[in-house]
Amino acid sequence: MSKKSKIGFPQKGMSRGEVLDKIKAFKKDDADWRAGRNFAYVYYAGDEILDTIKEAFNLCFSENALNPTAFPSLRRMEAEVIAMSANLLGGGAEVTGSLTSGGTESILMAVKTARRWAEKHKDIKQPEIILPSTAHPAFHKACYYFGLKAVVIPVGTDFRAQAELMATAINENTVLMVASAPSYPQGVIDPISGIAAIAKKHDLLCHVDACVGGFFLPFLKELNSELLAFDFSVEGVTSISADIHKYGYAAKGASVVLYKNAALRKHQFYVYTEWSGGIYGSPAISGTRPGGAIAGAWAAMKHIGREGYLQLVQRTMAVRAKLMEAIDEIPELKIFGQPDMSIVCLGANDLDIYELGDELSVMGWLIDRQQNPASLHLTLTPAHEKSIDAFIMDLHKAVQKAKKLSLNKLSNKLQVQTVKGLSKVLPDHLFEKFQKFAAKYSDVGGKRSAAMYGMMGDLQASGNLDEMILEFLDKLMREDA
Ligand SMILES: Cc1ncc(COP(=O)(O)O)c(C=O)c1O
Repeated sequence: MSKKSKIGFPQKGMSRGEVLDKIKAFKKDDADWRAGRNFAYVYYAGDEILDTIKEAFNLCFSENALNPTAFPSLRRMEAEVIAMSANLLGGGAEVTGSLTSGGTESILMAVKTARRWAEKHKDIKQPEIILPSTAHPAFHKACYYFGLKAVVIPVGTDFRAQAELMATAINENTVLMVASAPSYPQGVIDPISGIAAIAKKHDLLCHVDACVGGFFLPFLKELNSELLAFDFSVEGVTSISADIHKYGYAAKGASVVLYKNAALRKHQFYVYTEWSGGIYGSPAISGTRPGGAIAGAWAAMKHIGREGYLQLVQRTMAVRAKLMEAIDEIPELKIFGQPDMSIVCLGANDLDIYELGDELSVMGWLIDRQQNPASLHLTLTPAHEKSIDAFIMDLHKAVQKAKKLSLNKLSNKLQVQTVKGLSKVLPDHLFEKFQKFAAKYSDVGGKRSAAMYGMMGDLQASGNLDEMILEFLDKLMREDA
């Protein structure tokens, strides 16, 4: 018999108060986004906006957009969200799209649409997409799910896609070229007009991933006319993804994927007519679709409006200016690329950037680590207005601390903690592999996640990293993780 799960199904229900208290207790270690302590995951524009969107979400909490005829309110709001997004992103009356659960679903749909389009119009059976190395992993996920080949082209020293180099990868199986506005790792906009022109010349589709920038760049463009064009105003762009749950400030579960016309969008839809349960048609991946997310997206755009978004962009860019100025004054630090909007990729000159990350984590800041090059990733929002001064002060302190961390100090208990943590999440055979690698680094251990990141390169080269991450995800999803 298999081992019994530690957490059984509750026999008796808890009271409302108990349930809510429990959740509040679970949340005690969550990132403190209200105070601007996180540089990822939550986009917060203040309580007034948040509360309005929450109320809108709750008004449609139970409704289901699976059948739009049952809930005309959702159908209407969804259509308006798509139209408003198209209008914002340079689209004319022809541009249309779908509301999805997030950036990943929007990208999955754009890739799936390209595959179907090429199959129908060009009889391509082994489709390939060409994407810059900085493009979001959702494109690789899409290729993995839908059986396309991802052809990855390195970005230039400015971290922007290299249009001409991408062009050299085009062959008879190519269906789609990808560009980002901006890319997640360095926050730079790819040369979209160049890439889209090449795509058009070769009769290919061109997707712009504006998941991060879609509800930020159009307003920033009003402040900075030099900004690279990225939307449907660019000749050759055939689809765009833009997340309303990022800089649109909507509730999680809201993104749009837009197409240059309805004929292209049709390749995204799915229909099954043989089912005994009736004829089934579905625009994107999900079947049941939450009414709350649709109402939240609609409410965010209507409530904030162009003027409101412009102000939020101005406030965020003021935070960015403060941060960039501070980084400029710290000789040990540098910024990778020339960020076009509110994402800053922080690197170091004479210290281990992951050490710096660990010091900042200890001080209570939530910052993601990146690789190739080693860096920290900061997504700025208006919530950082209240925390940026404190962050800059801590940044100075953290740099000094990271500098002091000499190699011989590194066999301290923190390394032991890292390894202990891993022994909990990795199965025995993988942990043994890990220990072998760790042994090589025992003289430079003790760096919390810095030690881990230091090893990533070797693990990747040995082919063990994928397996480890799969095991890690498996363990993470268990109740005793
Ligand atoms: C550029 C870019 N594209 C796509 C995505 C995926 O979005 P989501 O996490 O909503 O699926 C992200 C997420 O950060 C992103 O930064």
